[in-house]
Amino acid sequence: MDALFTLRPAREADRPYLNAYCYGEGMDNLPSLQDVTVAQNADGEPVGFIRLALGANGAWHVNPVVVHASWRGHGVGQALTEWALTEKGELRLVARGQAVPFYERLGFVPCSWEDVDTAVTEECDGCPLAAECHPKPMCKRHIPDRP
Ligand SMILES: CC(C)(COP(=O)(O)OP(=O)(O)OC[C@H]1O[C@@H](n2cnc3c(N)ncnc32)[C@H](O)[C@@H]1OP(=O)(O)O)[C@@H](O)C(=O)NCCC(=O)NCCS
Repeated sequence: MDALFTLRPAREADRPYLNAYCYGEGMDNLPSLQDVTVAQNADGEPVGFIRLALGANGAWHVNPVVVHASWRGHGVGQALTEWALTEKGELRLVARGQAVPFYERLGFVPCSWEDVDTAVTEECDGCPLAAECHPKPMCKRHIPDRP
């Protein structure tokens, strides 16, 4: 059976989809398509994406991962995040409260706010929704399979 979705680097034609997915989650448009990987359906349309950002602290951050609502629960977010973890070795992020169980399921653990780059944490600073969002800094290090 063909895979439901496959991963590939984002391209310019994806931009309207990706920014619409961001808008739907109350997030800003993507600053660029650099280090953005999409999950595409059989028609080549993006159904979700992950954007990775290298912090001034030298660590890679998920900022953000979003799956279109109609595609949630099919392993898209997990595939994108685990691919990124394999690529980068370690990932840090600030999880929205609603997404914490997703990251926990993938083995992410809480970390200190100081471990996350300020370019990421500053998105929470002064956010009027912070009290109800319960954002949580989290991280995970990739453990390679034994040969
Ligand atoms: C969080 C998000 C990316 C998850 O994507 P997804 O494709 O639905 O997740 P997956 O199908 O890959 O789920 C992987 C596992 O996590 C679990 N999971 C996913 N979301 C969950 C949630 N909200 N609560 C509990 N478990 C969850 C799934 O059940 C699955 O576990 P299983 O293997 O035991 O069945 C998606 O819900 C989303 O785009 N949310 C809105 C944007 C957002 O909040 N992004 C995170 C920003 S910090």
